[in-house]
Amino acid sequence: MKNALVIFGGVSSEHSVSLVSASNVIANIPKEKYNIYMLGITSDGEWYLFEGSPELLPNEKWLESGKITKAVISPDRADGGIIVFRADGAERIKIDVCFPVLHGANGEDGTVQGLLELSGIPYVGCDTLSSACCMDKAVTNTLADCAGIPQAKWMSVIKEDYKENPEEFILKAEEYLGYPVFVKPANAGSSVGISKASDRESLKTAMSVAFKEDRKAVLEQFVDGYEVECAVLGNRGARAMSVGQIKPANEFYDFQAKYENASSELYIPAHITDEQISEVQRLALKAYKVLGCSGLSRVDFFVTKDAGKVMLNEINTLPGFTSISMYPKLCEHSGIGYSELIDKLFELATERKNGN
Ligand SMILES: Nc1ncnc2c1ncn2[C@@H]1O[C@H](COP(=O)(O)OP(=O)(O)O)[C@@H](O)[C@H]1O
Ligand SMILES: [Mg+2]
Repeated sequence: MKNALVIFGGVSSEHSVSLVSASNVIANIPKEKYNIYMLGITSDGEWYLFEGSPELLPNEKWLESGKITKAVISPDRADGGIIVFRADGAERIKIDVCFPVLHGANGEDGTVQGLLELSGIPYVGCDTLSSACCMDKAVTNTLADCAGIPQAKWMSVIKEDYKENPEEFILKAEEYLGYPVFVKPANAGSSVGISKASDRESLKTAMSVAFKEDRKAVLEQFVDGYEVECAVLGNRGARAMSVGQIKPANEFYDFQAKYENASSELYIPAHITDEQISEVQRLALKAYKVLGCSGLSRVDFFVTKDAGKVMLNEINTLPGFTSISMYPKLCEHSGIGYSELIDKLFELATERKNGN
């Protein structure tokens, strides 16, 4: 038996999504192979070992369970795991593999990955550098441009620079990108802080909405396309899985359409041509490699409605793992069931730790 640690929650606008993802992941960990430990990070950034039922994660029921004890991951490799602050003293628990089921800031962005590197614990998903690069949409876009991966025309700006002369920046954006334009916080997720602007007034509002989430904003030309997503699984020999499509219930795939509006639809496989599917898979693997991904990622694209051109949107290094999430569904469609997937991810974590 191995000791597996699942980290959930986190100081992130996607905290609540993580609770649901993690409870699904835990339910699917092969129990005959792993003892499961759960480490929760509250939205205020407090860390607790949770020793109750994983069903109590959603809606923060775990916090009132009476089954939480202060605990941390030790960066000290001699500890090799977590330290639990029991009433009668510190207890060390050795961890063989960790799955940080954290979305967005302070978890999907290389921070927790950095701690896990220090601790020497093998962990699921991309390493520190790759997580950080994929989290920041300006960095992702820059690297994609360098690699010649097609994507929307874009620009980025730091809040302080924007504030110095907003009018000048807006004119530059209008000239270079035109309308409609998407404005996003460089570092966020689940569409938080993202808006579509169609004129000068709404662009100004969109800028301030984005700056509430991050001090860097990314502006992108609007792509009139179908939204498709490709699951990639593996380390050096990563494979592109099936390609799925999203039909957002709202004007675009905003937070409400993602998690609250049941009429957003998923199609697996995507309703695009076989050639387009192959192109999506080819570019997904290319982006995965360029961004230095390992373990898993979901690579998202648009396929333009007029010319059928495949354009990169973003890479999610810790995509949703809820029961309705695209990533596990795409793997399942490619023949890898949820439990087998989790087991495979744990294997890939150990394999990468050993240098593959
Ligand atoms: N350039 C764009 N053109 C058209 N729609 C876009 C564009 N960028 C984002 N969107 C829409 O906004 C949604 C969220 O944007 P995305 O970059 O994927 O951010 P997040 O990391 O929050 O998921 C996308 O799923 C899509 O519906
Ligand atoms: Mg997205």
